[in-house]
Amino acid sequence: MFVLWVLRFAWVIFACGGTSAASRNNCYRKDCNGTWYDIQEATCCENKLYPGASLSCCGNEPYNPETATCCKVQHEHDIIASVDQGLNEKVSKCCDLKAYNPVNEMCCQSTITTKPGPMAECCGKEVFDKDKQLCCGPTDNRIILVRNSSHHRCCGHNQYDTKTQCCCTNKENILEIQPKDSDCCMEDSPAGKLT
Ligand SMILES: *[C@@H]1O[C@H](CO)[C@@H](O)[C@H](O)[C@H]1NC(C)=O
Ligand SMILES: *[C@@H]1O[C@H](CO)[C@@H](O)[C@H](O)[C@H]1NC(C)=O
Repeated sequence: MFVLWVLRFAWVIFACGGTSAASRNNCYRKDCNGTWYDIQEATCCENKLYPGASLSCCGNEPYNPETATCCKVQHEHDIIASVDQGLNEKVSKCCDLKAYNPVNEMCCQSTITTKPGPMAECCGKEVFDKDKQLCCGPTDNRIILVRNSSHHRCCGHNQYDTKTQCCCTNKENILEIQPKDSDCCMEDSPAGKLT
């Protein structure tokens, strides 16, 4: 066993560590769907050979992750992959099939926009500043409000002062802003506990 191991080790050094063209060839050769190729010259993506050394594969497309990003989206049962040129994959993020730089851009519902500040977040398709604004309303119908203070919260499409008011559901089951001592606020309605 030990002799075998030594032999194997010696072979690896000979095959990959050698400087002769012959030994290098052995080490860098790989199989691509039955064709032997040199990984220093070509890349194999989904069983097809493409010119270019040590590229990555994005689906069946070869690309260089230092200058491009592979973005993927699930489309029903298929995964669609696409190469977006221009951004290093290590520092980029994908917005559907488009790459963006998360340092100064953001992705809101498949739309890339410039990030206005560190507290920026998505409000539907738009961007809002969590410190100065509120994003109010149901998920499919959001609006941005200028935040009156840090203790203001959303109540439907409006805002209320959590120190003096509550957001409660009235008898018609509609959200209402009421003074804290009102019947609506006193009743233990679940909406009254919403922030
Ligand atoms: C891989 O090889 C098989 C058998 O030769 C062939 O039918 C197939 O088309 C090849 N695949 C590609 C992607 O070229
Ligand atoms: C927010 O500020 C505006 C302007 O100062 C004021 O009219 C409004 O009542 C305030 N809203 C709440 C819910 O405090």
